[in-house]
Amino acid sequence: MLIPRTVDAPFIMVLFGGTGDLARRKVLPSLFALFKQGYLPKVFQIIATGRRSATKEDYFDSIKEFLPSDGLVADFIAHIEYAHIDLHDLASFEALRDRIHELETTTHKECVSKLYYMALTPDILETAIQNIGKVGLHIGCGGEEEKWARIIIEKPFGQDLASAKRLNELLLQYFQEEQIYRIDHYLGKELVQTILSVRFANAMFYPLLNNQYIERIELTAFETLGMEGRGAFYDQTGALKDFVQSHLLQLIALATMSEPASFDAEVLRESKAKALSAIRLFDESNISTDMIHGQYEGYRQEEHVHPNSLTETYVAFKIYVDLPQWSGVPVYVRHGKKMKEKNTAIDFVFKPHCGVLYCERPDVLREDVRRNVLSILLAPEEGFKLRTNIKHVGFGTGLHDVNLKYSYHESAENVPDAYERLLMDAMSGDQSLYIRSDEIEQSWKWVDRVFELWKSHKPELHNYAAGSMGPESSIR
Ligand code: BG6
Repeated sequence: MLIPRTVDAPFIMVLFGGTGDLARRKVLPSLFALFKQGYLPKVFQIIATGRRSATKEDYFDSIKEFLPSDGLVADFIAHIEYAHIDLHDLASFEALRDRIHELETTTHKECVSKLYYMALTPDILETAIQNIGKVGLHIGCGGEEEKWARIIIEKPFGQDLASAKRLNELLLQYFQEEQIYRIDHYLGKELVQTILSVRFANAMFYPLLNNQYIERIELTAFETLGMEGRGAFYDQTGALKDFVQSHLLQLIALATMSEPASFDAEVLRESKAKALSAIRLFDESNISTDMIHGQYEGYRQEEHVHPNSLTETYVAFKIYVDLPQWSGVPVYVRHGKKMKEKNTAIDFVFKPHCGVLYCERPDVLREDVRRNVLSILLAPEEGFKLRTNIKHVGFGTGLHDVNLKYSYHESAENVPDAYERLLMDAMSGDQSLYIRSDEIEQSWKWVDRVFELWKSHKPELHNYAAGSMGPESSIR
């Protein structure tokens, strides 16, 4: 359901994990940006929670470095308070509920909307959700579209299919699906949403992006960063669960899904869910040939990483999406940490076209007639480019290729950060860029299958040099 976008009404946000990296680096700066641009209502409170007992001032000191130096920061901070909470202790949640009611009685003089942002590690998330439910904080105060209570769950949403199902069931014990916002920050990126406009709003692409004209799709997501202090988390997680299960399967779904009939959250997510369930599962016959995984040299020496760790920091694979329009078109995916360069892009590679005019001529080499490629660039550049063949300047008829390019930053003044966009959507009740339970479960099913096959087949974990382009073996 598409609820009109408005956050004029007052609200109270509880930011669980308020002292953590995500809250300080992403959530609070994005809230500040929304505040500064006048998107937030006049009256709102943010209750940041943490397990340390700290004064309001200590907490402000710990977040200030992540906020810009701006005269409005002091006004923004006046909306925030800090609550020391033991997430295992029901009494802490009763105290939180009492504080919320007190704010409603004294400041608002009415019951207001609530947003619970769960920036918590998986080990504590379920207990926190249970305690929210036990003290009745999941209940909004009436009117589905106003005065709601909503919960945002950060990734990773579970660690496998069984735990994701358990988490979904637990959430549904207290919340309705319309109250649950499962976040994947990639969906908040401007260019990820651009995939839809490029595919479905252009007469020159729409008829061509299918198996009749496209030879293959390539999805690359290379990062130069390594662990950055996240060794303990990453060593338990790895590239497949950290990045592929969420961001990359979502990108594949957006690149291949059938055209949804509207932007309505249910319609859009239904189409995406169908694409996700059409991503072919690996099996015994192709796990060793169509997927490789690797680990960068030096990973085992990273802080909090096991010295004999077999966790993968790189994966490359070839899969098919069994939708009629993509039948027979391979999708090549590569993702790695500590790579030579940061590069995230989706390439639609066209089948070669070499008509009579060019292929019959002695002065045009067949390989000079290059494949057209439509690339959606997500990082470091944001935009898209189109590789086309064109005649060399001068005598003769020889060809070379040129890229027609569009960069978002050159034309758009203020590209909102992914978290700004997603927070606005959650506050205004638009779930279209949040993930539905069946999408999550489908993605875990795909990942679980790979782990089962890795367990039985024990494929080689390839080493690669940090700062390289990944392992030398590659998928054909
Ligand atoms: C996170 C992963 O979800 O996304 C990180 O946990 C990864 O490992 C990050 O580095 C990448 O996000 P972005 O927006 O920098 O591409």
